[in-house]
Amino acid sequence: MSKVELFENERASGYDQFVEAWIPNYRYFLDFLPKLFWDSDPSEILVVGCGTGNEIQQLVAKEKKWNVTGIDPSPEMIQQARQKLEGYTNVRLIEALVSDLEVDRKYDAATLLLVLHFLEDNGSKLELLKQIGDRLISGALFVMLDITGDERMIRENLKILRLLLPDDITEEQIDHRLNRIQKELLHVPEDRLAALCVEAGFEAPVRFFQSAIYMGWMTRKK
Ligand SMILES: C[S@@+](CC[C@H](N)C(=O)[O-])C[C@H]1O[C@@H](n2cnc3c(N)ncnc32)[C@H](O)[C@@H]1O
Repeated sequence: MSKVELFENERASGYDQFVEAWIPNYRYFLDFLPKLFWDSDPSEILVVGCGTGNEIQQLVAKEKKWNVTGIDPSPEMIQQARQKLEGYTNVRLIEALVSDLEVDRKYDAATLLLVLHFLEDNGSKLELLKQIGDRLISGALFVMLDITGDERMIRENLKILRLLLPDDITEEQIDHRLNRIQKELLHVPEDRLAALCVEAGFEAPVRFFQSAIYMGWMTRKK
C-alpha cells in the first residue's frame, strides 16, 4: 500500500498560506493549469492529492464544465476543499486513496501536484503512478508538479529558492525548511521520474515549468 503523508492540525489549517509563501509562482502555475487541458477538453478529470482543493478551484473556475473528482487521504485537507468548493455540482470530493477508487470508472485527464516527493522510490512512487494510470483512458493528459532534480540540481536550486522567498520569513525558518527539503523530502532526478512514468504506462514526461526546485511535468497515458 502507498505511504500516506497526512496533513493535520496547523499543517492543514495553514496550508494555503504556506504554499503561497514557500512555493514561488505557485499561484501563476495554478492560474494557467486549466489552459493545459483546453485542447483535449476532458470530461472527467481526476485530481490526486487534491489537498485543500486549490487546483480544483482553478479547473472549475473557467467556463468549461469539466467534471472533477478530487481525492485525498487527509480529512482536514479535504474538509477545507469541501468548504472552498461548496455549490459546485461538477465537483466530487473523496477522502481516500487512489487505490480505493473503482478501476472501471475511467478519467480522461489527471493531476498530481506536490504529492510524489512524499513517497519513497522503493515501489511507492511507481505504485501510485500505476494506480493513476489504471484509471485513465489511453491518451489521457497527466500533469504533475514536483520537486525534481539530482543532488547538485536540488542544492543549487535551493539557493535560488532562498532568493525568491518573501522578506518576512526569518533566516532561521528558511534554513530549517530548506534543510528539510534537501534531507527529508523524497525527490528524484529528472531521468528517474521519466523512467517511473514510462514503467507506469505513460509516455516519457515533458518538463514545461520550473520555479527553483519545483518542476511541472506533463505526459499522456499510453
Ligand atoms: C502538499 S499537499 C498538495 C495539495 C494540492 N495538490 C496542492 O497542490 O496544493 C499534499 C497532499 O497529498 C496528500 N497525500 C499524501 N499521501 C498521499 C498518497 N499516498 N496519495 C495521494 N495523496 C496523498 C496529502 O494528504 C496532502 O493533502
